[in-house]
Amino acid sequence: MSVDEILAIEEEVKQLHHNPVQASHSFSRLDAKTTFTGFWNIHVKPVIEISKALAKKYNSPVSDSVWLAAIFHDIARLSDEEPHDEIGAERAKAFLNERGLDGQYVKQIILTHRCKKHRPETLEQKILATADAMAHFQQPFYLWYSHISNKSLSEQFKTMAAKMEWDYYVKIFWDSERDVVRSYYEALKRWVNGGEL
Ligand SMILES: [Fe+2]
Repeated sequence: MSVDEILAIEEEVKQLHHNPVQASHSFSRLDAKTTFTGFWNIHVKPVIEISKALAKKYNSPVSDSVWLAAIFHDIARLSDEEPHDEIGAERAKAFLNERGLDGQYVKQIILTHRCKKHRPETLEQKILATADAMAHFQQPFYLWYSHISNKSLSEQFKTMAAKMEWDYYVKIFWDSERDVVRSYYEALKRWVNGGEL
């Protein structure tokens, strides 16, 4: 695929986030447009950029598939559906197939990005899982999450504490990438474990 073709798909998916069909979301106290515009800018777009950089660094022979998987990886969140890895993987494949593209490998990459029921095995699967985790540290993701969340602050801290451990130790597949986010991880850990609420 050409760069322009993938950029056109990225723009299409960006517009789905900036103009969501559904009006509200189960995890957000804000309207869906505000929630998902922020989600694209603070999470999905950075995951795309980190994924592309890692695909280059680790010489993925199918970097286009990594890019596409990053674009679509949280697409099922837009429709509030879980498990969003499995549902989003199918949705990405269908989207690409409808345009005459083969979405099978992209589907496989998205399927393992949470490292839950399905674990990464290929280089490309490891790249997306790693990028997804790194973006949670390198962006003010948790500040955004706290802003949109309908949970109490103490509940948010519990969620954050578990999520950051999972991201740091399970989802990041290379020590060099863990080193990149170490200072963020350590600071966030002090915040959520040290604060009296
Ligand atoms: Fe994500």
